[in-house]
Amino acid sequence: MAERLQKVMAQAGVASRRASEQLILDGKVTVNGKTVRELGTKVEPSDKIEVSGEPIDSREKLVYFLLNKPRGVVTTTNDDKGRQTVMDIVDEPERVYPVGRLDYDTTGVLLLTNDGDLANRLMHPSYRIDKVYVAKVKGIPTNEQLEQLRHGVTVRTKQNGRYTTFKAAPARAEITSTNTKNHTAIVKLTIHEGKYHQVKEMMKAVGHEVLKLTRERYGMLDLAGLTPGEYRPLRYEEVQALKAGKQYRKSAGRW
Ligand code: URA
Repeated sequence: MAERLQKVMAQAGVASRRASEQLILDGKVTVNGKTVRELGTKVEPSDKIEVSGEPIDSREKLVYFLLNKPRGVVTTTNDDKGRQTVMDIVDEPERVYPVGRLDYDTTGVLLLTNDGDLANRLMHPSYRIDKVYVAKVKGIPTNEQLEQLRHGVTVRTKQNGRYTTFKAAPARAEITSTNTKNHTAIVKLTIHEGKYHQVKEMMKAVGHEVLKLTRERYGMLDLAGLTPGEYRPLRYEEVQALKAGKQYRKSAGRW
């Protein structure tokens, strides 16, 4: 199917659509060896497009999706117990992978991409991506328990199939509501790490079982407009912001 040249360039990850238009106007783009300067030009998949002499199809098209992971779905590429996986939901021609993990019963923001470089960077704690979790917990945490979370608690975690202990970095921790009748509370925790069952273990370390868990935010990405099980492609600006390690800032709006 014939598509507009700037759209094909943006999809190939060359630049945003607008920046691709500028490259065309600047005479940097050739189609089948001929410089093209008209923005309306349509190209076929068989056409050879080059930007500054570099073929754009020499690199894999990089794609990025944001899923609101529902409960009852595993975050692996396939499951030996035959359970539904996030890959069954994000049904796209490219082979994408989840960036990090959410538990079977955890809902919320999950990024999937075939951009291995970015995925590796995002998963590294030194990148310090804010991960905001909202946990419904049994009991109502005291101020001292919240302070413990803010100083960093020692938790049990699993690494390469083995249990070990690990000192979690200081977290942002606050109670957003309490239910004195049911004796439960909603706790908001912001962390940068992503160890196995980290939030559940952090809450357990201060004496509270997690009953329900949602990841509300990942960097600047939140669940706006997505019900559980829905996903959308990231906008070009969102990918750039993730690459730059930009975070959400309350005072500055979305980021
Ligand atoms: N921490 C957990 O305990 N579970 C998740 O799914 C994510 C963070």
